[in-house]
Amino acid sequence: MKILFASSNKNKIREINSLLAGRHTVLGLEEAGITVEIPETGSTLHENSFLKAKFVLEHFGEKSFADAVFADDSGLEVEALNGAPGVFSARYAGIPKNDVSNNIKLLEELKWTTNRKARFVTVITLIINGEVHYFEGEIKGTIAQEPRGKNGFGYDPLFIPRGYRSTFAELSAETKNAISHRAIAVNKMVKFLEKF
Ligand code: IMP
Repeated sequence: MKILFASSNKNKIREINSLLAGRHTVLGLEEAGITVEIPETGSTLHENSFLKAKFVLEHFGEKSFADAVFADDSGLEVEALNGAPGVFSARYAGIPKNDVSNNIKLLEELKWTTNRKARFVTVITLIINGEVHYFEGEIKGTIAQEPRGKNGFGYDPLFIPRGYRSTFAELSAETKNAISHRAIAVNKMVKFLEKF
C-alpha cells in the first residue's frame, strides 16, 4: 500500500520507512511535492496529529498520491514539570523551533529537582477510506544530566529509555526503532493495515 505521511521531518520519515520496509511504501510531504508548513494549533497530541492528517487530505486529496494518509504528533512529558513540554515539545524554547535550545531549556527547568522521570508519547492519526483511526505509543524513561550521543533527533540526547543506561542518541537506529514510542504506534498501525 502507498501511504502519504504528513511530515517533512526527514528523521521521522527515515524511522517510519525502516519500520514499514517491505510492507508499505511511505511518501513524505516533499516527495509528494507538498512544501507547506502544516499548522499545529491543537491543544493535545491527538488534536495536532488529526489536524495534520486532515489538512493534507483536504488540501491535496488522498487518492491522487496514496491509498491512505497518516500523521504523527509526539511529545516528551516530564513528571516534575507536570507533563511539560508535552504538546509544546517542538517549540519549548520558542520559535523558530530548535532542538539544542529545547534541550538546554529542559535541563535548566530540571535543576531544582532530582525527579528525572519522563515519557515519550506518539499519537498517529490514519485516515483511510474516509475513516479516522488513532494509534498510540509510549515509552517511559528518565532525563540525563547532560546531552549524550549523536544519533536521532530532538530530545534523543537527553532521553534514557527505562532498562537502558544510554540515551536514545547513543543507541543505534535499530535499537531505538525496536522500542520507541513511534515504533509502538507504527506497529499498531501496521497490524491494523493488514485488514486492507
Ligand atoms: P512533533 O511530533 O514533530 O511535533 O515533535 C515534537 C517535538 O518532539 C519536536 O521537538 C521533536 O524534535 C521531538 N520529538 C518527536 N519525536 C522524537 C523522538 O523520537 N525523539 C526525540 N525527540 C522527538
